[in-house]
Amino acid sequence: MLNLKIIIASTRPGRKAPAIANWFTEIAKKHAEYNVEVLDLAVINLPFLDEPEHPRFQRYQNQHTKDWSAMISSGDAFVIVTSEYNYSFPATIKNAIDYLFKEWQYKAVGFVSYGGVSAGTRAVQSLKQVLTAVDMVAISTAVHIPAFTKHIDADGKFMNDPGLDKSADGMLNELYKWGVALKTMRP
Ligand SMILES: Cc1cc2nc3c(=O)[nH]c(=O)nc-3n(C[C@H](O)[C@H](O)[C@H](O)COP(=O)(O)O)c2cc1C
Repeated sequence: MLNLKIIIASTRPGRKAPAIANWFTEIAKKHAEYNVEVLDLAVINLPFLDEPEHPRFQRYQNQHTKDWSAMISSGDAFVIVTSEYNYSFPATIKNAIDYLFKEWQYKAVGFVSYGGVSAGTRAVQSLKQVLTAVDMVAISTAVHIPAFTKHIDADGKFMNDPGLDKSADGMLNELYKWGVALKTMRP
């Protein structure tokens, strides 16, 4: 059993992220090999990094950092649900990553991205570069949703799509293998 944390990157009012995250979370919950938890950065509401020391030392001064540290420490595998802003990821996810170091280390991460024609792929490629700096293994099997708005109905609900559902299952299966393997690298 692995603890899977699904991180919602977008925090802006009126964001579409919850529709996509809810759809993906329902699929993840059908995977009995995971304990699933959603970490919504809009709710967690981290300020811009305000810790005086490098996170490697884990000498956190602020309660919000201690809370965020506990949430990430208990994760074995992560899925980042990300939009694409100006050909990259939202600044909120970079800030959330920068807060910590050891908590991310030797853990697997997969992606659900959405956007226009690019399907958020540029955001994911940019994120991978950052995640290697905290020793995460970013898996290549991912869920990329182009022209995502056509999958959202009038009630703001993401409509199931057999191709995308299959893509989500495939990514979760691959993530599990990496998650199990990397667990052996952690103390
Ligand atoms: C600041 C900003 C920049 C954007 N840049 C891109 C982009 O580079 N590529 C893209 O496909 N969509 C881009 N979009 C459109 C987003 O795909 C769309 O607004 C989406 O709903 C954003 O996700 P969110 O609603 O969960 O925040 C951008 C939107 C915003 C607000």
